[in-house]
Amino acid sequence: MRSNFTMPDNLKHLIDKLNDTRQLTKDEWIRLITGRTSDLAEYLFSLAREERHRHYGHDVYIRGLIEFTNYCRNDCLYCGIRKSNSHARRYRLSEEDILSCCKAGYELGFRTFVLQGGEDAYYTDEKIVCLIRRIKERYPDCAITLSIGEKTFDSYQKFFDAGADRYLLRHETYNAEHYSRLHPPSLTAAHRQECLWNLKEIGYQAGTGFMVGSPYQTPEHLAEDMLFIKKLNPQMVGIGPFISHHDTPFADQESGTLELTLFMLGLLRLMLPKVLLPATTALGTIHPRGRELGILAGANVVMPNLSPTDVRKDYLLYDNKICTGDEAAECRKCLEERMESIGYHVVTARGDSLNIESIQNIAQ
Ligand code: SAM
Ligand code: FES
Repeated sequence: MRSNFTMPDNLKHLIDKLNDTRQLTKDEWIRLITGRTSDLAEYLFSLAREERHRHYGHDVYIRGLIEFTNYCRNDCLYCGIRKSNSHARRYRLSEEDILSCCKAGYELGFRTFVLQGGEDAYYTDEKIVCLIRRIKERYPDCAITLSIGEKTFDSYQKFFDAGADRYLLRHETYNAEHYSRLHPPSLTAAHRQECLWNLKEIGYQAGTGFMVGSPYQTPEHLAEDMLFIKKLNPQMVGIGPFISHHDTPFADQESGTLELTLFMLGLLRLMLPKVLLPATTALGTIHPRGRELGILAGANVVMPNLSPTDVRKDYLLYDNKICTGDEAAECRKCLEERMESIGYHVVTARGDSLNIESIQNIAQ
């Protein structure tokens, strides 16, 4: 934590302004992020919790994460499963494997399945559509979230028509120049953002987000991220610290901090009070109580892993990832206990976003 235990009046005033108006100017975001202190953070978290309790009470939604392929055609510089990492042991789950993860998850009380993977051409649109249909046939009361990267408008539309409800696609960083330092030239910030607008237009509950403390990130970049998120008005925002992976070009870069990630979570809750905000596995990786602290800063979702244990260690986006050895049931129980220990309760519910003004369709 920072050693500065003060709460400058001008910055407290900015938090009050954010709480009243739900927005700040770029310059105000920069000042707030740059000048933050631990006292200011405590004040922010108390307001963030008030908003969270007003809309979502003490409920914590759980999402069953199924990491179904670690093949990827992309080469994001920070990512452990980038295509150039020849040390990654590649795997794909079959449709039957994925369905058995859903079965186990359903029995444990999960009502959202998140299908996440690298951008893997093996899973054609037809295969994804078929998978979505089969999951929906068996579990009509569950939501399906996709997190499979950048696709065409038509592909997104097909998945939506087949029954996908939500889509997670972090914009990673809004600033084009910063984006180009984290990605190969084939990937652009503009295209990533265009995908998000397309997802919203189709009617998905859309999720964006960014890494905190990614290499070369400045408070100005974070300010631009906040302005973009405000404009996009997504239903979900996933943020977590950047953590280095030993087999990437960023192996020697410093990881993001718990302190700044928590501060950004609090700010996001105040800016978009009804947003679904996960306390991510990356947060739990950099601190033993990272996820609990994330909930106390304003988050309201956790995403335990439902992937089969024999492939967990191969979906390694960053070093020292937690929960790679535990069975789904153990992860579920562990998180339930962690949440109870801070006065929150894991619930069995789809957990749709209450920020639905900007969505055309929401399955009941
Ligand atoms: N391929 C999909 C996509 O592009 O959205 C989903 C998988 S991708 C690995 C999911 C997220 O992991 C990314 O959006 C990125 O923010 C995060 N991630 C990747 N490498 C990371 C790292 N080293 N530290 C923290 N987060 C990381
Ligand atoms: Fe594709 Fe990370 S580079 S998932």
